[in-house]
Amino acid sequence: MRRIIFLLFGASLFSFSTADDTLTPGRPLTDDGEASLISAGGKFQLGFFSPAGSSNRYVGIWFRNISVDSVVWIANRRRPIAGTSGSLSLTANGTLLIADGNGTVYWTSSTDIAVANPSVQLLDDANLVVREAGGDRNSYPAWQSHDFPTNMHLPGMKIGWNLTSGLNRQLTAWTSATDPAPGNYTFGIEKQGNAQEFVWQGTQPRWRSGPWNGLYFSGLPGIGSESLVRYEFAVDEQEVAAWFAVNNPSVIVRGVLMPDGLLRSEVWMEETQTWSVWVYVPMDPCDVFSPCGPNAVCYPNAWPMCRCLPGFRLRNPRNWDVNGNPSDGCVRKTPLDCRNATDGFFQQSSVKLPDTTASAVNRSMSLEDCRNWCLGNCSCTAYASANLSTGSESGCMIWTSGLADIKFFYGSSSAQPLHVRLAAPDLAAGQWPNLKTARFNSENHKLCRRLTCRLISAAATEPVESGQRRMRTIIITISCAAVLFLFCAACCVWAAKKKEKKHRSDEEEVAEENLDLPVFDLGTIAEATGNFCIDNKLGEGGFGPVYKGKLKEGQEIAVKRLSKMSTQGTDEFKNEVMVIAKLQHRNLVRLLGCCIQGGERMLIYEYMLNGSLDTFLFDKDRCRLLDWRMRYNIILGIVRGLLYLHHDSRYRIIHRDLKTSNILLDKDMNPKISDFGMAKLFGGDETTGNTKRVAGTYGYMSPEYAMNGIFSVKSDVFSFGVLMLEIITGKKNNGAYQSVHHQNLLGEIWSLWKENRVLEIVDDSIHHSCPFDEVLTCIKVGLLCVQERSEDRPIMSSVLQMLGSNSSLLPEPKQPGFVVTGNQNDNDSSGALLSINRLSVTILEGR
Ligand SMILES: *[C@@H]1O[C@H](CO)[C@@H](O)[C@H](O)[C@H]1NC(C)=O
Ligand SMILES: *[C@@H]1O[C@H](CO)[C@@H](O)[C@H](O)[C@H]1NC(C)=O
Ligand SMILES: *[C@@H]1O[C@H](CO)[C@@H](O)[C@H](O)[C@H]1NC(C)=O
Ligand SMILES: *[C@@H]1O[C@H](CO)[C@@H](O)[C@H](O)[C@H]1NC(C)=O
Ligand SMILES: *[C@@H]1O[C@H](CO)[C@@H](O)[C@H](O)[C@H]1NC(C)=O
Repeated sequence: MRRIIFLLFGASLFSFSTADDTLTPGRPLTDDGEASLISAGGKFQLGFFSPAGSSNRYVGIWFRNISVDSVVWIANRRRPIAGTSGSLSLTANGTLLIADGNGTVYWTSSTDIAVANPSVQLLDDANLVVREAGGDRNSYPAWQSHDFPTNMHLPGMKIGWNLTSGLNRQLTAWTSATDPAPGNYTFGIEKQGNAQEFVWQGTQPRWRSGPWNGLYFSGLPGIGSESLVRYEFAVDEQEVAAWFAVNNPSVIVRGVLMPDGLLRSEVWMEETQTWSVWVYVPMDPCDVFSPCGPNAVCYPNAWPMCRCLPGFRLRNPRNWDVNGNPSDGCVRKTPLDCRNATDGFFQQSSVKLPDTTASAVNRSMSLEDCRNWCLGNCSCTAYASANLSTGSESGCMIWTSGLADIKFFYGSSSAQPLHVRLAAPDLAAGQWPNLKTARFNSENHKLCRRLTCRLISAAATEPVESGQRRMRTIIITISCAAVLFLFCAACCVWAAKKKEKKHRSDEEEVAEENLDLPVFDLGTIAEATGNFCIDNKLGEGGFGPVYKGKLKEGQEIAVKRLSKMSTQGTDEFKNEVMVIAKLQHRNLVRLLGCCIQGGERMLIYEYMLNGSLDTFLFDKDRCRLLDWRMRYNIILGIVRGLLYLHHDSRYRIIHRDLKTSNILLDKDMNPKISDFGMAKLFGGDETTGNTKRVAGTYGYMSPEYAMNGIFSVKSDVFSFGVLMLEIITGKKNNGAYQSVHHQNLLGEIWSLWKENRVLEIVDDSIHHSCPFDEVLTCIKVGLLCVQERSEDRPIMSSVLQMLGSNSSLLPEPKQPGFVVTGNQNDNDSSGALLSINRLSVTILEGR
């Protein structure tokens, strides 16, 4: 009977409530499939719904004009209603109530408020607000849904503490994609110490934002200054709260805590009808709370991932090495000497500041006073500024315990420095210990010598009798003498040749006139590489093997050794020396010297800890380490390096063999262009060359170069375009055979571009971390670079400008060169193309 009355009531209610945004006592909202509240601007809707894949009924708020994953708030997430007999009503004292037909209550808003003549209204920011009817709209409401968020953070909604009322607003993830019940993960603010945002798994911290410094969270450098949204953080007597605002009101942005604990910022894309993720955390293994234990720094891309802060050593080296478990952290090498006041500070830049839960903070102190405050407190272990919003470092926070959860940021030197207190003896030796090198030096190196080493001089082929140390010494002495002699002879010959040569090509002239390259002696290089031990071989370069080595002074080097067989290589070797000896740029690999001795020809380069780009990009595990920021930095670095080669160095240099394997990455993941074996150097106004010997790599060669041997800066631009598109997509351009559509990468991108679907090809492993406007710009610039006609392609200085602009302002690209398009009917020809594409390096003779 009671139920029938309710239903009748609901039916009559339907006629006015659909267009309304308010609910008053005595006029409940029933679950009849139609009744709802709609905010005045039409953006949000409140009513009953069932999540996809479930028949449970919930009262929630959702985006009215978005059909995908649109629920932003749920009232009765802990207790769904089984059937459709539920209703939402407002009691006379202002409490919201969800009950079913039998009067069972499923949810109530807080019961300790009492409002006379209440009404509840759904606002255009998705806030459901209870106030006295006709009450002051600017006063703090009696109850609001924004104070009890579900899993979603919307613009204007505050997360964190109201210190007056003690209210703590947190997001709690859904249990699963179909079950909104509170899951394992929560997101909120820890107000202890210097306040930070946290994602917790149960009660354990899982991710930490780092402290707010007035501009951004120390763990999210750059995010505060995004063009899309503006982040705000308030710490005062009244509240410790975070919120955000969208700069362009027509853009829909939200933060979501996913059931698996990922915190994502999403933007609604009208064209594709999808939520695009532009930032998410944790982004890499170093983002997960304190993976390295105290006093260690986590390097997202390096191995080992964890390294001790300078002045600290591993607490348990064995554990770290054998089990690969670095979580024990590090301890001081030398105890602090507080009473004698000899301690000092090591400044560690580019890091996420350590956990500040137990830090003391003073926002008005100067940095100088901060230092003194730290020195004056014997338990202080580090300090940093607490406020950057004034344009300089001010304010102070000090740590008085172990420094936990420090993450290194590649290429963001602007991140706030941490000043780590060290005892005087450790200050002097403030160098990063390199674990890889340490190992390389000790056991491996010895083992290596014992097992596989051979002497490279004449004595090398003679087996050395075991135990006959004397004999070996003699041989080495003789060979050294021989080497020395050979070297002198070589010097004489070279000097003589130099005098005698009168008819030389322009290039050689340019090369020899000021080639003051340091010369290494063979013994040094042999020792540094463990006598070219096979274990130290890094790979096979264009003209011979490349070895890793370490000089006595500790510098790590890469040694390119020309194989004696190669005559082809001799030219390339000379060419490389001539070209690269003249160049100095942070995005070009640096040549330290050469060694021409004892029939050996070697080039010595600085060692690049992270190897070549292709070993990251095309590896299904390692590619995850390259997030969008890093890829973008790599792209920019390559652009700058090329710009220097093409326009800014004294000569105009065409590289002619740009590809991912020729981009090396240093310890900070900065890209360096390498391998100048095929580079062409022009003096004066010359801009275009022509060769009968077309050399390069398939997939990267421009049409005019591959077919007619014509090369210019524009053929490098083409290769760069391919390279950039590979970086964005994580796919090889020559990998056509892998594609179901029998298209190469350029073809695939071009088809998707024409259909406005190009974002679909972005590498899965960065899809969650990339701002779509920036990616779109990069793809468009990439397409402009690979256009068929060289005159349509931009030069590198334009490329740099274009990368900084909005994609809609760029010209429309024309069809790329060398598009392999799918032709299902013509299996034979595609077969032929595929087999060509399989060759990674092809050298064609003649035309
Ligand atoms: C209401 O109560 C009746 C009798 O106890 C029961 O059979 C029915 O399932 C209940 N309805 C709901 C929606 O709980
Ligand atoms: C308001 O009304 C509800 C339901 O009638 C009741 O449970 C609650 O205690 C009341 N609250 C106050 C403050 O009176
Ligand atoms: C905290 O809550 C109280 C009422 O519960 C309210 O009056 C006050 O304005 C709130 N403070 C802030 C900063 O929101
Ligand atoms: C202070 O220095 C003296 C001599 O340099 C040393 O013997 C003493 O141990 C130091 N004090 C502390 C607390 O380390
Ligand atoms: C050092 O600083 C910590 C944190 O502010 C404080 O708890 C402690 O009392 C201080 N110790 C001394 C000796 O001042």
